[in-house]
Amino acid sequence: MHHYDPMAQHLAFGIDIGGSGIKGAPVDLESGKFAADRLRIPTPEASTPDAVAAVLAELVDSFDLPKKAPIGVAFPAPMDHGVVRFIANLDKSWKGVDLPALLHQATGREVTAVNDADAAGIGEQRYGAAKGKDGTVLVVTLGTGIGSALIVDGVLVPNTELGHLEIDGHDAESRAADSARERENLDFPAWAERLQRYFETVEMLLSPDLIVVGGGVSKKHSEFLPLLNLRAKIIPAELRNAAGIVGAAAMAASDVEKAKRKKD
Ligand code: BGC
Repeated sequence: MHHYDPMAQHLAFGIDIGGSGIKGAPVDLESGKFAADRLRIPTPEASTPDAVAAVLAELVDSFDLPKKAPIGVAFPAPMDHGVVRFIANLDKSWKGVDLPALLHQATGREVTAVNDADAAGIGEQRYGAAKGKDGTVLVVTLGTGIGSALIVDGVLVPNTELGHLEIDGHDAESRAADSARERENLDFPAWAERLQRYFETVEMLLSPDLIVVGGGVSKKHSEFLPLLNLRAKIIPAELRNAAGIVGAAAMAASDVEKAKRKKD
């Protein structure tokens, strides 16, 4: 059992559902740091809603969470108020699933479910590379897919899905995600050419003031970010793979606050 202080008001629990792992940790909302070690459980081979819900129940049960602790789940799909609109990189049966309802059944708890890149964007905006930045900030995560979070003067425009722009006749993430680099054995300069094409298209459409690049590969940013030639400043994420957990926890805590204010 992982220790979690139920008396501390500034904690929320964050979960990040990815193609290879499902990760969770309690987050200290003041610092944006994990309040206890993160737990990672491999994503089930058949990543169906029931199989993933069972893993989430196991994850939540491994921590001694107070009944009312805010829980935020970052999910790799556009989320229409908790309902999965379409799904690129997990089992296709997720389409149309109401994630908070499913998790309520599996865990008996209220959860907030958001897009994974939006969660990472909020994590970076509150605690990381985009902290205190005004203007148009675009956070892009490079992983199995490409995720995007658009934040304008601190306000998130949710579900932007810029990984699925069609560029040169291809779904952008199929060419420029980190999984494409691995699958096609591209060296960093070859991959950077694809990233250049991707980011210049995004820049043409949105004129961001700042681009923050996240995902696991962002720890190797010095291999590819200096090769990109863009008008906007482009910098690595600071929270890296923790951003989804931290941002989802922060968004869940804001939801709980909002609900409280509505009641009063
Ligand atoms: C999904 C997005 C997600 C991104 C990163 C894309 O394929 O459509 O919703 O944010 O992958 O996981």
